Amino acid sequence: MDRKDFIKSCGFACFGSIGLAAVLQSCFTTNLLSGKIEGDNLVVPVTDFETKNGPNVFFKKYVVFQNDILQYPICIYRLNEHEYTALWMRCTHQGTELQVFGDKLQCPAHGSEFDRRGGIQNGPADIKLRTFPVTVENGQLKISLKAV
Ligand code: FES
Repeated sequence: MDRKDFIKSCGFACFGSIGLAAVLQSCFTTNLLSGKIEGDNLVVPVTDFETKNGPNVFFKKYVVFQNDILQYPICIYRLNEHEYTALWMRCTHQGTELQVFGDKLQCPAHGSEFDRRGGIQNGPADIKLRTFPVTVENGQLKISLKAV
C-alpha cells in the first residue's frame, strides 16, 4: 500500500466512524411524544418504552418528556417491568439542563453525573436529582408533578 492509498483508507475509516456514531446517537436519542399532562400527573403509556423488530419486542432504557409547561425535561427510566424512575433534568449544582447518556445523566456545564435513580456519581453537584413518584396502572405510568 502506498502513501496515497493509506491516506484514502484512513479517510474512509474516519467518515465511516462519524456515520456510525451518528446512527448510534439517533438510536439512543428518544423523545417521548405521546405522554400528556392530566391535572397534576404526567401520563405515559408503558408502550412508549417498546420498540418492535418483527415479532420481537424490546424495551428502551428511558424516554424523555419535554413540554412547554415544564421548565426542564423529565427523564423516565425503565428499571424493570414494574419499576420506573422519573428524574427532573435540572443539575443540582447550578441548574444546567442535563443530558442523557444511557444509564447516566450528565451535566455539560461542570461535569456532574447522576445515575438512573438520581444519585450522584460525580460532582461538583452534592445533592441528588429531584425525583417524582411513579405509579403503574392499567398500562400507564402516572408521574405526580405536584409542586413542580
Ligand atoms: S451546573 Fe451542573 S455541574 Fe455545575
